Amino acid sequence: MILEVDNIHTFYGETQVLFGVSLSVKKGEVVALLGPNGAGKTTTIRSILGLTRARRGSVHFNGADITRAPTHKIAQAGVGWVPDDRRIFPTLTVRRNLEIARKTTGFANWTIDDACKIFAPLEHLLPRECENLSGGEMQMVAISRALVGAPGLILLDEPSQGLAPKIVNDVMNVIRRLREEGLSMLIVEQNVNIALSVADRVFVMNHGRIVEEGPAENYRKQGAARAATLAAAT
Ligand SMILES: Nc1ncnc2c1ncn2[C@@H]1O[C@H](COP(=O)(O)OP(=O)(O)OP(=O)(O)O)[C@@H](O)[C@H]1O
Ligand SMILES: [Mg+2]
Repeated sequence: MILEVDNIHTFYGETQVLFGVSLSVKKGEVVALLGPNGAGKTTTIRSILGLTRARRGSVHFNGADITRAPTHKIAQAGVGWVPDDRRIFPTLTVRRNLEIARKTTGFANWTIDDACKIFAPLEHLLPRECENLSGGEMQMVAISRALVGAPGLILLDEPSQGLAPKIVNDVMNVIRRLREEGLSMLIVEQNVNIALSVADRVFVMNHGRIVEEGPAENYRKQGAARAATLAAAT
């Protein structure tokens, strides 16, 4: 396992939002975390990153206990993040955003040139200021930024959000490419069909709990009506 989240309980102030969440990602696997608005998907990512620390339970990455590690140490250990709001520096160029994010970890190093091989259009964007990019271009930069941080695992929060279907397809193809390169990924999605199209395994959350899990193949076989219920609030 590259990531093991075991029975975490997370609070915002006095309000508990995660109630014993457990999930795992194996090396080279794409795992989808599904569930409706407010289920606790982003909070699970924030707990893994130490941004909103779990009060109980544990998080292990690549064999090490990171439950109480500071966020920058977790990044340094090789956990990459593509936040839901992307958080690109708008007044800097794409190249500068990527340069700032470069670091070495125990995992494979990715140069900006390597990222351009995965995303062909990136090369032409390098001199552009980020504030003028389209949503799809911005997402491409956000994923490339995670990549040049030499991650062993990338946490992607709603990578399809706000993107046109054609662009979503491009992003999912990039995720498949990254899996071929041996990267492990946890993808949080409200768009169940998109997530099922790339995932190896699935966890479904509701009200701060994991309510079901299984191989993505089983869910793909169950069809669209079943998929719709996975994202529905109950
Ligand atoms: N900073 C915060 N302070 C207090 N409560 C919060 C905060 N962020 C989220 N919450 C609450 O925690 C719960 C889980 O939110 P979270 O953002 O993890 O859900 P989500 O599954 O990512 O939802 P979405 O699909 O809308 O992104 C929700 O009830 C939300 O209102
Ligand atoms: Mg969220």
